[in-house]
Amino acid sequence: MNQTCWKSPSNIAIIKYWGKYGRQLPKNASLSFTLSAAYSQTTLRYSPKAKGGIQLRFLFEGQEKPAFAQRIQGFLESILEELPFLDEYALELDSKNSFPHSAGIASSASSMSALALCLCDMAAELGLGPTSDQAEFWQKASYFARLGSGSACRSLYPMAASWGESKQLKGSSNLWASPCGELLHDDFKAVQDTILLVSRAEKSVSSTAGHKLMEGNPFAPLRYQLAEENLGKLLPALQAGDWATFGQIAEEEALMLHALMMTSRPSYLLMQPNSLALIEKVRDWRQQTKLPLYFTLDAGPNLHLLYPKSMQPKVQPFLQEELLPLCENGGHLADELGCGPEKLRLL
Ligand code: PMV
Repeated sequence: MNQTCWKSPSNIAIIKYWGKYGRQLPKNASLSFTLSAAYSQTTLRYSPKAKGGIQLRFLFEGQEKPAFAQRIQGFLESILEELPFLDEYALELDSKNSFPHSAGIASSASSMSALALCLCDMAAELGLGPTSDQAEFWQKASYFARLGSGSACRSLYPMAASWGESKQLKGSSNLWASPCGELLHDDFKAVQDTILLVSRAEKSVSSTAGHKLMEGNPFAPLRYQLAEENLGKLLPALQAGDWATFGQIAEEEALMLHALMMTSRPSYLLMQPNSLALIEKVRDWRQQTKLPLYFTLDAGPNLHLLYPKSMQPKVQPFLQEELLPLCENGGHLADELGCGPEKLRLL
């Protein structure tokens, strides 16, 4: 039996991807920071079998998980034409996350990118694809990660990545993400992301359903235009180390994402009262201190606090005294920008 093991991080979008078409293609370009502490680790074991369909055993933290297994089985079947060798092997996947499963943190970006890396590495080991020292390998992994979960394609690159065609991003594509970590001013390479866990409950409306609702959203055309405009303002701010512009765009994008949910037909809300209470606290503190502390939100109630590393000693007491009491059991995760995926050597 052969095996390969990859660790891959989650990411947090500053310019949000919300709305898709065709085979998981984005309606607008997005840009995200690659995280470090929140990651998935996936091991793929494979041994030869006779052809005749995907044979998968899926374990999550060592336990059978039928719901996850079904989703992965469907994904593998959907890419069989592109990776035809997959039905010549019995596959066993064993995946785990660095964060608790019920933390209310989306794990699809980290888990799907780790899985895509395992699949591309398997192709490489069988002599059927590029190896991980070639740029083509990463593009392919990003391509397959995208088919698993759109935003996962951006987890492949260190520091920051963009995904989606834009005249403002050279070489950008709807098919895979592109690295843009080199673009960041040194201040942004050390961004801190403290994730405030407002609720650990599962989302009432999935991202898949949310993207679909954009098709009937009357604000959708304007949204795609504003995403492109915001990208145009964000890129120079990231290069210049301009925190004020960065923060204004990060917050606008987060609130616009949630406004799109509220104006979908039917409308829905993923923010909770404590999400709003935290937003107000962050904004008040920023006004009083004049320090660059900003937030973004994922498709859920949890806040991501974004700030420079140098500000950590000032943020800590505020976090402890004013913000954590508004989190479910004081739940939070300290994260920061990271170096991207890593292949792990198994003994
Ligand atoms: O990758 P999906 O289909 O789960 O969509 C996630 C979209 C957001 O997380 C809300 C925004 C983004 O760009 O990551």
